[in-house]
Amino acid sequence: MKINYNYLQQEFAKPNEIIKEWKKLIKSSDFTLGKYVSKFENSFSKFIGSKYCISTNNGTDALILCLKALNVGPGDEVITVVNTFYATVGAIEAVGATPVFCDCDERYQIDINDIKKKITKNTKAIMPVHWGGASPNMYEIMKIAKINNLKVIEDACMGIGGSLRGKSPGTFGDISAFSLHPLKSLNAMGDGGAVVTNNKKLYDWLLKYRNHGMINRDTIEIWGENKRMQPLQCIVALWGLKKIKNVIKKRNINAKYYDKRLIELKKFIKVPSRIKGFTETFALYMILCKNRDKLKTFLEKKNIEVKIHYPKGLNQQPAFKKFNKKRNYGKFEISDNQARTLLTIPVHQFINRKQQDYLIKNLKNFYKI
Ligand SMILES: Cc1ncc(COP(=O)(O)O)c(C=O)c1O
Repeated sequence: MKINYNYLQQEFAKPNEIIKEWKKLIKSSDFTLGKYVSKFENSFSKFIGSKYCISTNNGTDALILCLKALNVGPGDEVITVVNTFYATVGAIEAVGATPVFCDCDERYQIDINDIKKKITKNTKAIMPVHWGGASPNMYEIMKIAKINNLKVIEDACMGIGGSLRGKSPGTFGDISAFSLHPLKSLNAMGDGGAVVTNNKKLYDWLLKYRNHGMINRDTIEIWGENKRMQPLQCIVALWGLKKIKNVIKKRNINAKYYDKRLIELKKFIKVPSRIKGFTETFALYMILCKNRDKLKTFLEKKNIEVKIHYPKGLNQQPAFKKFNKKRNYGKFEISDNQARTLLTIPVHQFINRKQQDYLIKNLKNFYKI
């Protein structure tokens, strides 16, 4: 038996509907912005439950645009978490602001108590991450932001399709970013991204900024950039939006099964707790394992593809040295432990119960139980 981590070939095995729309697009030659981009933006904001959406060329740029829209720049501190993808911090760096790092908690999410400790007079924003497709307690984070008069930019890049007691990731903060990268729950067959907000002023500014600052073909009102998403990819994302509820449902069924079965291995494997009423996207199903590296090799020999997200927290990256010189960030013990022991196992919508049982059987074989 084989268990693939990557499911893209299966996802796009029947691309006829997409190709049909691509043919219409080719006929129209409407290759920048246009009907498909607007249609995607309207559908996405409806799906997320936000008033406005601006599609972008990727999730990293979506984050940068969020920061720019809120005028975050040199001299401003942005509080985020140390166990995230590089882009969260890359975006803060790109606008010249200073990232300030929190440790994570046992659910791999930003440690909310640490946020409180890291606020200074220079803090302008909090950038919580919906890491792995699970979510930090955004209700609590919003309270902290309100008391301290801070902006909140959600890195909801992995959060499409999740829910926190009925509210989607990306609908809590002032403005939020999503990624449509191939391994996200909604993917655009390449790079893509989106910003959502309920703030009309931010939306109007972003619409211009994303498109060179143009208000029409011959006039620019501000100096902007080109951060547009491609219509070809909006077609793919629109196709994906029709399927996403089922994708998330299937992943949750698979995840629940792992949660239940992995109790049998609790001496060796730690599964994070789940918050009642929160639905995760299961972009990643992450566990903490004894003897992780040997286990990984063992599973790979059994044709089971697994990953590590990530073997190094950002504090262990060579690029982090730059920040350490400026201030002492303290320790990141929970994140460090996760980097040592974390393993991501396939949970996607195309694996079946037999494959899950095969994986569990091999985990038991490895730990000799
Ligand atoms: C948490 C997080 N933030 C930001 C990004 C960046 O998104 P993109 O790859 O679309 O630029 C990703 C994507 O991998 C991510 O997982």
